[in-house]
Amino acid sequence: MRKRIVAGNWKMNTNIEQAVRLAQDIKAQYDNLAVDVVLCPPFTNLYAVHRVIQGTPIWLGAQDLYWEENGAYTGQVSAGMLTAVGCQSVIIGHSERRQFFGETDVSVNKKIKKALEYKLTPIVCVGETLEEREAAETETVVEKQMKGALSGLSAADAAKLVIAYEPVWAIGTGKVATPEQAQVVHRFIRTFLAELYSRELADAIRIQYGGSMKPENAAELLAQPDIDGGLIGGASLKADSFLRIVNA
Ligand code: PGA
Repeated sequence: MRKRIVAGNWKMNTNIEQAVRLAQDIKAQYDNLAVDVVLCPPFTNLYAVHRVIQGTPIWLGAQDLYWEENGAYTGQVSAGMLTAVGCQSVIIGHSERRQFFGETDVSVNKKIKKALEYKLTPIVCVGETLEEREAAETETVVEKQMKGALSGLSAADAAKLVIAYEPVWAIGTGKVATPEQAQVVHRFIRTFLAELYSRELADAIRIQYGGSMKPENAAELLAQPDIDGGLIGGASLKADSFLRIVNA
């Protein structure tokens, strides 16, 4: 039985004060230990949120990292810096990074390897755009992204990943994939993992759904056999709606 995992991707939202308050509210009401919970504030608020949630089962996650150790890479943040502020996890390859910041399957792969070296759990995002879905290319696109992400990864390393299937057309648009649409792609990803590694590994890996997940639609999405949690953007910015998803 896979343990559910729900992550809040706060994106470029919250100042320190708001981040601390949101983390405090979530901490105060979180009692569902059957679900792993990850909070992913912006870099500048990681340490403050760490101070709030340290000693609890809630994980801290970053929204990106860079694969070099340190050096002349203006604006970048390394894996070691993330573990030093208390991160246990990191989102890699979010579609907004692919769309706006030149993230590629090659950079995603390098970031995953570096995160694993630092024992950070990567939440690896894949998903198709609307044009790709309409051209019936969803599976081709997701397979290419998965292949690129996993390139050169041993089964032992691949087993440490969390995958997030996030159809780009559903992110921040209010347009959610139907439970059936999401399930088809989740099943496809699991089958791909079984073929690349093993059935056992595929059955153990957690695959989150992301894209306009809200308290109102979470239960039916999470009822699908291959959906093991959520990566939540907008609805993670209020403790109440985030926790209603956790409890769904
Ligand atoms: P959304 O974002 O829940 O606001 O659609 C999800 C994500 O981008 O991870």
